[in-house]
Amino acid sequence: MFLAGTYIKNPTVLAPLAGWTDAVFRRICKAFGVGLIFTEMASADALVRDSRRTIDLVRFSPQERPIGIQLFGAEPETLARAAEIVSELRPDFIDINFGCPAKKVVRRGGGAALLRDLNLIEAIGRATVAATDIPVTAKLRSGWQEPVVVEACRRLQGTGIKAVTIHPRSQKMGFKGQSDWQQIAAVKQAISIPVIGNGDITCARDAKRMLDETGCDLVMVGRAARGNPWIFAQIIAYLQDGTIMPPPTFAERLSLCIHHLEEQERAYGAAVAVYTMRKHIACYLKGGENITRLRQQVFSKNNLQEVRADLLSYLKQLQQTAVTA
Ligand SMILES: Cc1cc2nc3c(=O)[nH]c(=O)nc-3n(C[C@H](O)[C@H](O)[C@H](O)COP(=O)(O)O)c2cc1C
Repeated sequence: MFLAGTYIKNPTVLAPLAGWTDAVFRRICKAFGVGLIFTEMASADALVRDSRRTIDLVRFSPQERPIGIQLFGAEPETLARAAEIVSELRPDFIDINFGCPAKKVVRRGGGAALLRDLNLIEAIGRATVAATDIPVTAKLRSGWQEPVVVEACRRLQGTGIKAVTIHPRSQKMGFKGQSDWQQIAAVKQAISIPVIGNGDITCARDAKRMLDETGCDLVMVGRAARGNPWIFAQIIAYLQDGTIMPPPTFAERLSLCIHHLEEQERAYGAAVAVYTMRKHIACYLKGGENITRLRQQVFSKNNLQEVRADLLSYLKQLQQTAVTA
């Protein structure tokens, strides 16, 4: 399928997840086939103030394409200037965040706070589209409290925005409760640009159900991809011909975890990676049997080589048990 002229080889999308979807994790998801990727949100104010430093947050490698860079901010002029700045990197899309519920973002009028002022959303869409030749997309929650997403998307379409992602929870809900997929269906019916559905997809069947129930064009997965990038290959296979791929074995998850650790070391150095990997390791280990000791060992260490050695030795044990069983 084509999204604003860019070929997307399947309808799966990696969600922007601040603190998680760095270039290393994005490349891993790409290896599992994900069709479209977004960077985590970058502050438009910071880009305008100190573009050299902030732009490093959204740099990407050619193998991650197609990719969108996400921006958050509160003023049309700032977002427009930030879009101009990141256009230097030639992403396939520039995405505007109208959904972040975090206090530090909404306090300054950005993210989901913008859903309280549809005129401002429209002004931001118009200014950003005018500032760049790169297709601009937008990601929205359903509203601040009451749903306004259908009207917001209608107006954004009018500004020249090329696609929208809908995470149908209000700001007030945070990440609690269920996302209301009917809001995705309502947006799809109201506008003609592509709609990316998002919210609570945890397996291939959920993804198909969202596509079927809402009519959305692509599906975006966030939390369920952490420690589990297999979900993209599983969704792609299921959508292709109904194949249910077996879940990865614990040994496969450990091997990928070690690879992820090594890639982070290459990208950031051992001293940083040993900390930034902890949350990923916790996700890869989730659900493994008899891992209490391994987890304690790994989380008590500050030396990446020791952490790697612990994971490798557990993996070897697993593989030996599998051979002798
Ligand atoms: C830790 C975390 C960080 C997030 N960071 C961003 C972000 O930078 N930009 C954004 O638009 N949404 C962000 N989100 C929201 C997700 O992109 C997504 O909309 C939400 O998690 C619902 O999808 P899911 O149920 O598949 O996780 C974040 C969510 C989480 C849990």
